Amino acid sequence: MKRSSSVSLVLLALLVVTLCGLLLLFKWQPTLAPVLIDAYSPPKLTTPSTTVDLGLIPMEEHVGATLPISNHGGKLLTIKKVSTSCGCTIAKLKTMVLKAGASTTLHVEMDTRLKLGPIQKTIDIDSNDPIRPRFSIKLIGQVHPTEKQKTHSGMLKVADRLALFKGTCKTCHVDKGVGKTGQELFIADCGMCHGVDGKGGVAPSLLKLAWHKPETLAYVRGIIANGAAMNPAMPPFSKQAHGGPLSEDQIDSLVNFLQYQASITQAPKKTPH
Ligand code: HEC
Ligand code: HEC
Repeated sequence: MKRSSSVSLVLLALLVVTLCGLLLLFKWQPTLAPVLIDAYSPPKLTTPSTTVDLGLIPMEEHVGATLPISNHGGKLLTIKKVSTSCGCTIAKLKTMVLKAGASTTLHVEMDTRLKLGPIQKTIDIDSNDPIRPRFSIKLIGQVHPTEKQKTHSGMLKVADRLALFKGTCKTCHVDKGVGKTGQELFIADCGMCHGVDGKGGVAPSLLKLAWHKPETLAYVRGIIANGAAMNPAMPPFSKQAHGGPLSEDQIDSLVNFLQYQASITQAPKKTPH
């Protein structure tokens, strides 16, 4: 009698140890096992990954992706806003309110018109998660031209080089610059790609060009007016030559502003205060 009861005690102890081990394992590998949620914990927005890789994308193609979004907190998660920096990328959530442990799907769509090469966009999700009130998801990919879009001259054939100046794209890429010149115009029409100070962003810096050479002025003027032949992301801005949004005077004012901006930036600054 005594012997069998001690055996069952040992068995019981083993069972308890195994159960505890399993529970710990679950906690340590939240992506592999159901998560244990503390009912009193604050809302917690989670995704399996904070980067969505769209991979190789043929130029001018519409691409999409989905990503699960979950609440691993005990309290109700309320999503206030989902936003993207460029109107070319649209992100939508199926549900804006998630109960403890619930999940929904984030749908992302990108209009890759005029894009070429590596792309990186950020999707911001604002919620009542107290630790991360703004959860950012990175969208990356590589846009490449198809054989049909390549020409002998090297200039890429795109359906509409002026797409940036039309439809919904116009609101951010044209409207703010209407009637402006110089620095104001640069900030409105160019800053989103080249950085508001011209130091570069998704497009290269414009201050590192050889501004001391007179031919640079003509080169810059030509690119602004006619666009970059090899990259449709730099479209032709001249109204007179291509039906773009800018007058010849506005283009001249941009060249002057950039030359001035480069002169104050390139000049050696020695005494930091
Ligand atoms: C809400 C304002 C807004 C709208 C609308 C908008 N854009 Fe943009 N766009 C931006 C900003 C800001 C950038 C700078 C890069 C960034 O932060 O996303 C940008 C960058 C770009 C670029 C540079 C390459 C890159 O990195 O993406 C292209 C091409 C572009 N937009 C195309 C478009 C097209 C085509 C449309 C219309 C379908 C459009 N944009 C509508 C704000 C906007
Ligand atoms: C939608 C994004 C976008 C906008 C808006 C844009 N650019 Fe660009 N720009 C680019 C890209 C991308 C390149 C690089 C092209 C290449 O690879 O040849 C470029 C190239 C240039 C160059 C040539 C730089 C060099 O190193 O050869 C100049 C000059 C320039 N842009 C001026 C401007 C000005 C001025 C504006 C505003 C009127 C403007 N850009 C608006 C994307 C943009």
